[in-house]
This record gives sequence, C-alpha cells and structure tokens, in this order.
Amino acid sequence: MGINFAGKLGLAAGFDKNGDYLNFSNNIGLGFIELGTVTPRAQRGNEKPRVHRISTEMAIVNHLGFNNKGVLYLKNKLKSFERKIPIGVNVGKNASTSIESAHEDYNYCIREIYNVSDYITLNISSPNTQDLRELHTKKYLDNFLYEIKRCCDQLSKKDRKNVPVLLKISPDHQEDKIEELCKIINKHEIQGVILTNTSVDKSLLSTRSYDHVNGGVSGLPISKKSTEMIKVCKKLLHKDTVIIGCGGIMSKLGADEKLNAGADLLQVYTGLVYKGLQLIKQINC
Ligand code: FNR
Repeated sequence: MGINFAGKLGLAAGFDKNGDYLNFSNNIGLGFIELGTVTPRAQRGNEKPRVHRISTEMAIVNHLGFNNKGVLYLKNKLKSFERKIPIGVNVGKNASTSIESAHEDYNYCIREIYNVSDYITLNISSPNTQDLRELHTKKYLDNFLYEIKRCCDQLSKKDRKNVPVLLKISPDHQEDKIEELCKIINKHEIQGVILTNTSVDKSLLSTRSYDHVNGGVSGLPISKKSTEMIKVCKKLLHKDTVIIGCGGIMSKLGADEKLNAGADLLQVYTGLVYKGLQLIKQINC
C-alpha cells in the first residue's frame, strides 16, 4: 500500500478511539496503530453495562456502539502529534444516520482526516450500531464503495497523495456471501481488508450466560473463525489486496496461524487485555 510499517503487529481499532493515548501506543513496540472508530459528530454510545470480561475464556463481549468524541477532536490530536509509526484511522457513521445515507458520514470523516492518516478503514462490521452490517450486502455495498471511491479520487487529485482505504469485515458470513463480498471489493479496487471484527455468535463461548447479552465477542473464542475468513478471502481477493488478520491473537502461535493463512499484517486488542504488553514482545521475536 506504499506504507512503511515498522512491524507486522498493530493495534486494533477501539483501543484508542479518540487518539488520547498516542504517546503510549507509539512506544510499546507496535508496528502501527489504528485509531477510532470515529463518527462525524461525538456520541455517547449504548447504555452501560456495555463491556463484559469473560476471563475464563480470554474473551470480551462489547456493546459500546461507537462512543467517541467526533472526528474533529481526533483530527486535532493527530495534527500536533509527531508519529514514529504509521497511524490508520477507522471511520463509521453516527447512530442517527440512516443506512441509505451512511456514505455521507464516512465521506465527511474521510475528508477531515485524509491529510493526517496513513490509511483509512471503513468499519462496516460493528454489531453494535443498528443495521450497520447491512453494508456487507450487495444491495448497499456496491453503491457505498462507489461513493467512497469517488470522494477519495477527488481528495487524491486535490491533495496529490493517495491514502489507502481498507474495509473491516465481520466474521459472521456464509461462504456464498463471502464470495459476493469479495467480488465487490475487487470491483472497487479496495486496497486492503481487516479480517475480522467481533462476532455476534455467542455459541463460540462455552458459557451460556451471554446468549441474551447484546454485543460482539472478541478474543480467543473467535480466533478460528477469523482465521477461516482469511483463508477463504485470500483465495477470492485480488493478489495485491492487503489482508490484516485480527481476532483472538493471544500468542505467537496464534499470530503465526493468521500469517500462514495468508495475512500480511496483524492486529490485536483483547490479547493485550489478558496478556499485557508481553504479548507484543513475544509475537515480534
Ligand atoms: C472493539 N473493536 C472495534 N473495532 C472497530 O473497528 N471499531 C471500534 O470502535 C471497536 N471497538 C472495540 C471495543 C472493544 C472493547 C473491543 C474488545 C473491540 C473490535 C476490535 O478492533 C477487533 O476487531 C476485535 O476485537 C477482534 O480482535 P481481538 O480483540 O480478538 O484481538
């Protein structure tokens, strides 16, 4: 994508939604950072409790719903920050924006952060914003990506720089739907994908206590499912589409599984919660 990554392992979105911890994440041995998800306007997110630790399974169920301080707050943070490693910005839509006009929110954010981002991620896969994941379907995705690409082409001409756009995908798809999804990604020449976001499949947990709790599962229980997505998409996507593997990486072995499945880069979140910063050292060596 024309980016000099300092290492293959990066920080997944959601850990630092607003760029408030940049001094920290810039200095812990990561190869890159992804901030966000940010939306055009600040919003509070869903009602608490909205984050549940299931320590026995090294998992988290979260139902945050894009609580963030808005894209302009993040833009200001980035403007004054001297970065050592590449920083991507993950964007989404406000809860009150309809799915039909979702692209307007994404494009608003893209215009604001185009000049301060090394790459931009379109988050269409959070289960915690109503209907958001409908953007995976042909009915919406084709036009959505057309509108995003049109905006990025204009910015690229105006600013004389090309900021890569990545799509962050849900792990909850049947194989025929993945085929349709990859065809549309190829058609619009999206530079990369992040596989994957959290899963709504609570049967991945061994406890049944969360079956009726809203939110997406992250951590060890989604590891296999995310890796399977990498394997399937690797076969279907253009050869030069970058794959960032994310979901349940808890060890060097888990990281290697994703690289062997076809990932070019990796991201972690829940692994840092349970294993601490040691995990970064372990994976990097
Ligand atoms: C997330 N994740 C996430 N993803 C995203 O694109 N935007 C976001 O704002 C968030 N927020 C968020 C909050 C919390 C508490 C968690 C645990 C996760 C998803 C995250 O980036 C990642 O895709 C998944 O968690 C899977 O990776 P791990 O956590 O299993 O390494």
